[in-house]
Amino acid sequence: MFPPSPRSNSLRLDLSDSNSRRAMTSFISLSTVILVVVSIFSWRSHLQHTDFIARERMALVVGNFHRESERADEGLTETLAETDGHHVERSTPTLEDFNELYEHVLAKQTENELLRKMLDKKQGMIDFLEKKSKANKKADQSSSETILMSALAKSSHDVKGEIIDLIVKEYTSPDSPDDEGTTLDSALEAIDLKHTDGEAIQVKGFPFLYVGSVGASLNKESLLNKNITHVVNWSNSARCNVVDGIEYLCVRGIRDRTDMSRPESVEELRDAVEFVERTRLAGGKVMSHCWYGKNRSVTLLVAYLMKYSGMEIGEATDLVAETRPIADPYVKSLELYRDRYLINDDSNA
Ligand SMILES: *[C@@H]1O[C@H](CO)[C@@H](O)[C@H](O)[C@H]1NC(C)=O
Ligand SMILES: *[C@@H]1O[C@H](CO)[C@@H](O)[C@H](O)[C@H]1NC(C)=O
Ligand SMILES: *[C@@H]1O[C@H](CO)[C@@H](O)[C@H](O)[C@H]1NC(C)=O
Repeated sequence: MFPPSPRSNSLRLDLSDSNSRRAMTSFISLSTVILVVVSIFSWRSHLQHTDFIARERMALVVGNFHRESERADEGLTETLAETDGHHVERSTPTLEDFNELYEHVLAKQTENELLRKMLDKKQGMIDFLEKKSKANKKADQSSSETILMSALAKSSHDVKGEIIDLIVKEYTSPDSPDDEGTTLDSALEAIDLKHTDGEAIQVKGFPFLYVGSVGASLNKESLLNKNITHVVNWSNSARCNVVDGIEYLCVRGIRDRTDMSRPESVEELRDAVEFVERTRLAGGKVMSHCWYGKNRSVTLLVAYLMKYSGMEIGEATDLVAETRPIADPYVKSLELYRDRYLINDDSNA
């Protein structure tokens, strides 16, 4: 018998060492891959989120700029007059231009690159603006807001008007009646409401029934997280069909208490109540929203609770107000609804 050779022993050790080294190496590579994949995903979603906020932030900046510039700043008017004097032809900005603009602002690219995008690469205009911006160079040009402000200040009246139109289209309904006004102010208010009142609120005891402001209707992420499948839009100014995959009921022609008491409107209320019930039967969740989530949207919830839970107007209103304290339905419309569909119940079969 030979004593075990130290060499073979060490060989065995080496082998097991290299095995464990290999195992360790694969483990490390695998974890690295997982780590990288996870980081990429979370960075992407972080970016998408940042992107979203940035666009709204930018809309607010543009809006504030617009309000400020309406206060007829002398220097600005002069700049605009000169800029307009060039009469450069350019194509109409599109939503993509708006998106590009905010991406550039986000990336803090130079003012002139930004202007190139906006002003359709017209050399005369750009030369003029470059000269102008060199002359006016400020110390804090690195801030994206400053870049945006100065880009706007130097763009023509038309370009400014079109950027504002884009914001309005992005945050309010394109087919709102004129007198209701999809103005820059309503777009900015919708953005504000998204940040201050941007969650659909569930009615206590009714897991499929939600109410919200226009802000909640713009909050795609939250609607999807809450698994909301159906939305009733009562506001002429709010955008409908904001989120793909959600089914919308866009109620036409109702603005206020008076509208809501017309026979056609009570009929629309009835249809909306049935839309809610169909959602429940299909296992979905529905949000009723108007602009503030106070009058029209709540009127629907109360009508629904009257019909399908046998509640009185006051009782249903109190229940909704438990989770939505500003709830203030149009009682007259509800009385008409009750009289027409819940008592003399002919057309409801
Ligand atoms: C939404 O649906 C998903 C998948 O069915 C579920 O895991 C989640 O808990 C739901 N969220 C809410 C708020 O109901
Ligand atoms: C939301 O509904 C109102 C009323 O029907 C409508 O005027 C508005 O256009 C809708 N939004 C969109 C984008 O369809
Ligand atoms: C909601 O209803 C209340 C009381 O009926 C009324 O004073 C208020 O103006 C309404 N709000 C809107 C936005 O129509």
